[in-house]
Amino acid sequence: MKKRMLTGDRPTGPLHLGHYVGSLANRVALQHTYETFILIADVQALTDHFDRPEFLRRNIREVVKDYLAVGLDPTIVSIAVQSHIPEIAELAIYYLNLVTVARLLRNPTVKDEVRQKGMEETLSAGFLCYPVHQAADITIFCADLVPVGKDQLPMIEQTVEIVRRFHGLYGDGVLVEPHALVGEVDRLVGTDGQTKMSKSLGNAIYLSDDDKTVTDKVMRMYTDPTRIRATDPGHVAGNPVFAYHDAFNPDKAEVANLKTQYEQGKVGDVEVKRRLARCLNLFLAPIRERRMNVNDAMVEAILEEGTRRARCVAEETMKRVRSALLSLP
Ligand code: TRP
Repeated sequence: MKKRMLTGDRPTGPLHLGHYVGSLANRVALQHTYETFILIADVQALTDHFDRPEFLRRNIREVVKDYLAVGLDPTIVSIAVQSHIPEIAELAIYYLNLVTVARLLRNPTVKDEVRQKGMEETLSAGFLCYPVHQAADITIFCADLVPVGKDQLPMIEQTVEIVRRFHGLYGDGVLVEPHALVGEVDRLVGTDGQTKMSKSLGNAIYLSDDDKTVTDKVMRMYTDPTRIRATDPGHVAGNPVFAYHDAFNPDKAEVANLKTQYEQGKVGDVEVKRRLARCLNLFLAPIRERRMNVNDAMVEAILEEGTRRARCVAEETMKRVRSALLSLP
């Protein structure tokens, strides 16, 4: 039997290049090796968008289109809607007893998000506890592998702790300890060169952006602020234009050459950006083409079937969990 791979995305907007290098590329590469489940994490997204359910509902469809566009094959990959698998919520309730509030408050990803979204005074119990919910996402599918961006590593760590605690208390062998798989590029910086690429920061290039949009975003990208003229020696390290060349330009010799010339003041920002825009548009062309062949009816059918398959697995796991926890001998 194949091992399982599980991952998820919050439906808070279209997916971008950061999602691709962080996680989507691994999913596509491994979809034939692992039995794959992908959750559209609408319940998790509600933890900080509880006042905008309509917005999340709309985005579910777009995320599925992005999946199909990058080449995930829905005949072998189950794409499921989290809110339609209530067993996950049930499992999370049991897990909440196995995690302290102090531990949740120390979760570095939660801390970052609280700071970034200014939630210091308004942090809800639901948001604080979403890592526990995520542990339920992962373990209800008995996932061995979780392809994620680097920012999600604390979630996998917390999941492993919960699994060990569960086994220590209620007996071994009920759950599976997951492993994270981080993409080749740790964390793709945004077009502003500031932090990670993120919809909320407005510094993202989307998989669904058209040719002109991509070119415009690239031409406006942050580069080396110390460089006034093209003849000034430029800095490659920390320059997002070169980070993207590294991630998306298949011609490594060209990239090496551009870096040398840039450092010597022999090539201008405009030229380096033009070449990057060309690379990105070449990379995105087949993605755009596959996206054009997807319609809403197909998306609905894929979600229905994927959710049905996911729910069968979730129900199996819950039978084992319930009997480990509460059944009389
Ligand atoms: N927290 C993830 C994110 O923000 C999304 C997610 C939800 C997820 N459930 C998951 C990722 C389970 C991996 C496994 O991107």
